[in-house]
Amino acid sequence: MDDSIFLGIESSCDDTAAAIVTGDRRILSSVVAGQTEMHADFGGVVPEIAARAHAERLDICAEQALAESGLTLCDLTAVAVTAGPGLIGGVMAGVMMAKGIAAGAGLPLVGVNHLAGHALTPRLTDGIDFPYLMLLVSGGHCQFLRVDGPQEFSRLGGTIDDAPGEAFDKLAKLLALPQPGGPSVEAEAALGRADRFELPRPLLDRPGCDMSFSGLKTAALRLRDQLIAEQGGLRQSDRQDLCAAFQTAVAEVLAEKSRRALALSPAPFLAVAGGVAANKTIRAALEQVAWDAGACFLAPPLRLCTDNAAMIAWAGIERFQTGARDGMDLAARPRWPL
Ligand code: KG4
Ligand code: ZN
Repeated sequence: MDDSIFLGIESSCDDTAAAIVTGDRRILSSVVAGQTEMHADFGGVVPEIAARAHAERLDICAEQALAESGLTLCDLTAVAVTAGPGLIGGVMAGVMMAKGIAAGAGLPLVGVNHLAGHALTPRLTDGIDFPYLMLLVSGGHCQFLRVDGPQEFSRLGGTIDDAPGEAFDKLAKLLALPQPGGPSVEAEAALGRADRFELPRPLLDRPGCDMSFSGLKTAALRLRDQLIAEQGGLRQSDRQDLCAAFQTAVAEVLAEKSRRALALSPAPFLAVAGGVAANKTIRAALEQVAWDAGACFLAPPLRLCTDNAAMIAWAGIERFQTGARDGMDLAARPRWPL
């Protein structure tokens, strides 16, 4: 039984987060301070605004996570922090905060790859063993990973352009729906007909697990402009039908590529992580694929699918168990493939 207790810190995109997690898989606290409203007017995350907000809130989040866990710094085993990949200003703010806490409290420091945090989440939530297949689908990422150990990841394929979440966000912008686009497109799609508009299924005709989503968005833009030219504007039902067609296309591409990934690299589990895993149509499609391949489908609770620090604390625990430690020279890395 592992009785370690880790503070995790995450600040690689637009969520400032801190969490306390134990080696026996208990999340004692998980604090996430989002920044959606700060970036809302800009149509995307503004790195400078994000970094400043992280610098202002990291200490508050860490303090709150400790307070909610009922522990003090003296109870901790180590500090784990996202050291990349991500927006460099935010990652630097998190790494500096973690170094300060580790040095001040005399604790070991463990740098964590943000993607490893997502990829190892099913082990925190469900305690599954290696190996398993992970589909990471968020606003910034889209890749299939085969996970064979805490630091053994093989990439089977991924998007060659936009991530699906980004495509949902861009479609929402095209249709003047609120951001983040995923939930608003899903809500519209629930009221629409998926078979009225024909959208492409990019890269399905090519072998392998690579995906593409930017063509889908361009096709949706063309349809929107055609409707506006013909009718002088968009009707509610046009929006709903476009969203339904788009969501179905994304779900079908993700499902078919997951089917191929499982055939290429059979595993007892297909797990998903990332904000797009919240989408019920996509979840259902992936669940069916896992079922057909004789695998179990795992989708962690949403708050652990999206960016959070509990997954970083947990990935830190897994790295720590392999003997990994970092020093005060731990660098923040904007790019860091797994
Ligand atoms: O994992 P996440 O919180 O942040 C990163 O991108 O790292 O994912 C956010 C993305 C956004 O693009 C958002 O539109 C998308 O996940 N998303 C969804 C849904 N909920 C969030 N996409 C489709 N359907 C949803 N229900
Ligand atoms: Zn993420």
